[in-house]
Amino acid sequence: MRVLITGATGLIGSRIVKDCLERDIKVNFLTTRKDKLDSLPGCDGFYWNPQKNIIDIDCFNEIDSIINLSGASIFRIWTKKNKELILNSRVQSLNFLRDKIIENNVKINCIVSASGIGSYPSSDIHEFDETELNRSNYFLSDVIKEWEKATNSFKKIAENTAIVRIGLVLSDRGGVLKQTMQPMSFGFGVYFGSGNQWQSWIHIEDISNIFIHILKNRLSGIYNGVAPNPLTNFQFTKVISSIRKYVFFLIPVPKLFFKLIFGEMHIILFKSQKVSCKKIQESGFNFKFQNLRNSIEDIIS
Ligand SMILES: NC(=O)c1ccc[n+]([C@@H]2O[C@H](COP(=O)([O-])OP(=O)(O)OC[C@H]3O[C@@H](n4cnc5c(N)ncnc54)[C@H](OP(=O)(O)O)[C@@H]3O)[C@@H](O)[C@H]2O)c1
Repeated sequence: MRVLITGATGLIGSRIVKDCLERDIKVNFLTTRKDKLDSLPGCDGFYWNPQKNIIDIDCFNEIDSIINLSGASIFRIWTKKNKELILNSRVQSLNFLRDKIIENNVKINCIVSASGIGSYPSSDIHEFDETELNRSNYFLSDVIKEWEKATNSFKKIAENTAIVRIGLVLSDRGGVLKQTMQPMSFGFGVYFGSGNQWQSWIHIEDISNIFIHILKNRLSGIYNGVAPNPLTNFQFTKVISSIRKYVFFLIPVPKLFFKLIFGEMHIILFKSQKVSCKKIQESGFNFKFQNLRNSIEDIIS
């Protein structure tokens, strides 16, 4: 098996690359940065620039599947220009890749593409699964809709098309954990508003294993990529602060503060999403990290 990975140099991608190589899955990867072509030992890097319609078609050599993770970070002020970047780096990139696969007559068995849980509605009581049809009404939800539509257009050319709606990924290399721990170095933790909003998190090793599980078992459809035990934002901060030494108190920071600093983007900090992982479990996937404490202790040990 040889998989072509986009966004392979990122937080999730670099872990998937490592785990693929350990399982004897060979990897070609596409990067938009020429300086990263040799950055992942053991696999072959190829340059692309979807915005300028550039791709090194040698990236298709011997591949039978694709993992798609490309996308500019959503953690930037949502100006008109940045919104275009966030959308195009996901949708235009996928459409461009699909067109090049067709043009070069490449045979693909499966594609597994990233998506997010951000389009589920906000609720403090309801648990959302993959059958949920209601969507939140904001920018990121629109991005996710177009992103998943672009992924589904691969159904024309791939036998198996799967989407992973990823939750908050916990890793020592960045993301939500680093941001939550930052103020703790000064003796306090921060939670958002009431702290009652649900956060559906997942350990980096489990999200990587979910992508590989879907690939190996040729699964199709949508799967939530979240751990079995989501927590509220307050509980989440409290567990982390209890593992870190010398965190003396937790401070609620009001919504208005984040609104002034981050503008429209502050919404993502206050969405309450309790998301179910039952479907991926029923497909035979076993989580290594089921609760937050074990996950954090593993990551920071
Ligand atoms: N981490 C999370 O908690 C989380 C949660 C939900 C969804 N997701 C989604 O999962 C995917 C991977 O997440 P991640 O945390 O690994 O993200 P990441 O660390 O930001 O990596 C994303 C990769 O996308 C590529 N990229 C950046 N700008 C691009 C552009 N303009 N056009 C094409 N490719 C571009 C980059 O690779 P090159 O520089 O090599 O091209 C980058 O390494 C993302 O789409 C993200 O939105 C992540």
